[in-house]
Amino acid sequence: MTVFELMINRRSVRVFIDKEIPEDVIEKLLNAANNAPSGGNIQPISIIIVKSKETREKLAKIIGPQPWVKNAPLSMIFCLDFYRVKRWAALSKIDFQGEHSLGHFLIGYADIMCAAQNVVMTAESFQLGSVYIGSIQGTMDKIRECFSIPKYVLPLMLVSIGYPKSKPETMPKLEKNIIVHNEKYRILNDDDILKAYNNKYGEFDEDVDAYLEKAYIEVLEANKQESGNWLKLVKKRIKSLDIQNHAQFLFKLRYPTEAMVKQTELLFQQMRNAGFKF
Ligand SMILES: Cc1cc2nc3c(=O)[nH]c(=O)nc-3n(C[C@H](O)[C@H](O)[C@H](O)COP(=O)(O)O)c2cc1C
Repeated sequence: MTVFELMINRRSVRVFIDKEIPEDVIEKLLNAANNAPSGGNIQPISIIIVKSKETREKLAKIIGPQPWVKNAPLSMIFCLDFYRVKRWAALSKIDFQGEHSLGHFLIGYADIMCAAQNVVMTAESFQLGSVYIGSIQGTMDKIRECFSIPKYVLPLMLVSIGYPKSKPETMPKLEKNIIVHNEKYRILNDDDILKAYNNKYGEFDEDVDAYLEKAYIEVLEANKQESGNWLKLVKKRIKSLDIQNHAQFLFKLRYPTEAMVKQTELLFQQMRNAGFKF
């Protein structure tokens, strides 16, 4: 398959068969990560490999109800690592304060995501599947403690990888012309915005399972594995919150606006605990 075909066929995979990934393949994934672009080529990145059953269980317990974290034979914790850069700078008689520079933080986060996506696509080329776990960001204190992560290092992304047992058919995406702007930004009118998202998800209807297939695949995938309660809860909340459309589903139920704004302080606190302050 060409790289383009791999990209078009990629889907987040959350159900894995119980099969180890050969060491030479893992080495290739890591080489791909290490060869990713990096702002200034500073490479403020560390990757913690999680393979043993015991560590997988510890990690999964911290992350919460996402059974694929425990079931995947391999997970990689992508850390923004200013500890090593700071030490190197100090040893070289120069001050580096990435922990106080929003610029270094933003570029460093982009760096680790470039490395993570290199891993995701290299995994695809070896018939592996993977899924990002962004919710690690809500548990950075615990992850830092569990994995002995020092100050100035933030575990900002997790990728779980394995051989797919099943793969979601297709996930809806916006039409390409909605995200592309020729030569300058064009502001869509309200009708076009509504149409764009309706085209993406289809009409919000009573067939909750079919809807969730498109809008919250995680709960269905979890249900296939172990966390049946999650699906029940979501179905109940669609009713109790009187969800009427897709945007309400996202910003009332999945990512409630008030809770998301409130979470900002928790994220800042975790960053401060790691020595980051802008
Ligand atoms: C930054 C980021 C964070 C994500 N976090 C999670 C997560 O915590 N749990 C999960 O199951 N999937 C997670 N995903 C996967 C998305 O749910 C998935 O990419 C999206 O539904 C689109 O599906 P696709 O990847 O198959 O195209 C994340 C993806 C990204 C890019």
